[in-house]
Amino acid sequence: MGSKIRRIAVVYATGQGTTGEIAEFIGNALESPQVAVEVVPIGHQVPDLAGFDTVVLGSPVHHDALMKSFVVFAYQRLDQLASPDVWLFSVGMAPALSGPIGRRLARRVPKDIATMRDALAARGYRAFAGRYERAKIPLRAQLRYFLLGGRRYGDLRDWDAVRAWAAEIAMDATRRTATTSAAAS
Ligand SMILES: Cc1cc2nc3c(=O)[nH]c(=O)nc-3n(C[C@H](O)[C@H](O)[C@H](O)COP(=O)(O)O)c2cc1C
Repeated sequence: MGSKIRRIAVVYATGQGTTGEIAEFIGNALESPQVAVEVVPIGHQVPDLAGFDTVVLGSPVHHDALMKSFVVFAYQRLDQLASPDVWLFSVGMAPALSGPIGRRLARRVPKDIATMRDALAARGYRAFAGRYERAKIPLRAQLRYFLLGGRRYGDLRDWDAVRAWAAEIAMDATRRTATTSAAAS
């Protein structure tokens, strides 16, 4: 008797590729003989998401907000996202902040993200640190970053944190499949 293959989509927006690499990493971590994963950037042909058991959505934070293309996409696909389990992640600098102000900001979920999380009835939301190259940041933005508690530049992605989050998604999906199968039998 063959067990059902679970379908997972990881759909993301990215400016400089950082979020795309995190999405690919999550996709690889979720893949297994029982799970088929598709990792798709917004802008390419994103399939009908209603056909997936789980959808992971990710966007960078640019200018204090999720990327416009991502926000438009997510709200356009709200109907398709009603049946799959949805997980949401963002990539920005808040998780890399230190000091009392920085730590408080790192814990805070920005309003637009909280609104989207609730609209999607997401099972979880996680903010990951991204890449912040000092040479590419205008002086004003560098000063603001410093005042908020930002001291580190470069590739600040925490792959252990990403791996742990992917494991949480995989465990939750397995548990829900088991519950659904038990209810159906
Ligand atoms: C134009 C620009 C604006 C940014 N604005 C913010 C911001 O407002 N808040 C933040 O936490 N990070 C900000 N960042 C940092 C990005 O979130 C970080 O570089 C991330 O890794 C970018 O992901 P991407 O390569 O997928 O676009 C900004 C980066 C860029 C290039």
